[in-house]
Amino acid sequence: MTKHYGVITLFAEMFDAIADFGVTRRGLDEKAWQLQCWNPRDFAVNAYKSIDDRPYGGGPGMVMMAEPLTAALDAAVKQQVANGVVKPKVVYVTPQAKPITDAGIRELATEDGLIFLCGRYEGIDERVIESRVDLEVSIGDYVLSGGELAAMVLIDAMVRLLPGVLGDGQSAVEDSFSPGRDGLLDHPHYTRPESWNGEAVPPVLMSGDHAKIDAWRRRQALARTFERRADLLEGKSWNKQDLKLLEEIRREQKK
Ligand SMILES: C[S@@+](CC[C@H](N)C(=O)[O-])C[C@H]1O[C@@H](n2cnc3c(N)ncnc32)[C@H](O)[C@@H]1O
Repeated sequence: MTKHYGVITLFAEMFDAIADFGVTRRGLDEKAWQLQCWNPRDFAVNAYKSIDDRPYGGGPGMVMMAEPLTAALDAAVKQQVANGVVKPKVVYVTPQAKPITDAGIRELATEDGLIFLCGRYEGIDERVIESRVDLEVSIGDYVLSGGELAAMVLIDAMVRLLPGVLGDGQSAVEDSFSPGRDGLLDHPHYTRPESWNGEAVPPVLMSGDHAKIDAWRRRQALARTFERRADLLEGKSWNKQDLKLLEEIRREQKK
């Protein structure tokens, strides 16, 4: 079934970045997903089409007003329901949630309909979050100027997991963090030429021996995960062969 992604944003044009290019564009063409943007300004209630106002209590910046946001949300939900989504979920992208991981992306990708609420300025009126938001998601512990890039990051990460969207069906399975590689980082990749800048491709990759190549790649994936993200190795149960490799890698790195 086509995934339905709606976005509440003041800057719909930004979404051309995922609608017009690469894997996400291919997914759109193949109807793996569908995108519709809703501009809160079109739902503004006063003559000036205001969508923001000064914060109660004072302080810098502006806050996005509840009325245009909730009216835009109502329209987006209604449209998704008309498109056959039983219960669209409203996601507020915010730096104040726990940063999302690969597992979170996979869970989000199971939803048939999502509506992303993109804040700007100081953010949105808290009452909208309390009354209308199902889920708050952050893409990392830093602050962006607006939610659009965050929503695009989430959509891109989900769309590439949808069946048939990636050219080679295996690639998402073998990517870093994926359950298909036990949550490890990906192994290093090489392509032509065989020698570049005085550096040769590791000989095993030229051997044609697939068992050896698989073993080398597994070792590389374990070693780089150990070096760069040892936290990803914690709490996992490894088979005998992996345990042996990890022991070797630990010894090597101590030297
Ligand atoms: C300038 S930020 C507001 C930051 C807010 N005053 C705070 O300190 O938490 C404007 C909007 O960008 C989005 N945003 C910023 N950083 C984000 C992040 N790390 N992940 C997801 N969305 C983010 C949110 O939608 C937010 O409402």
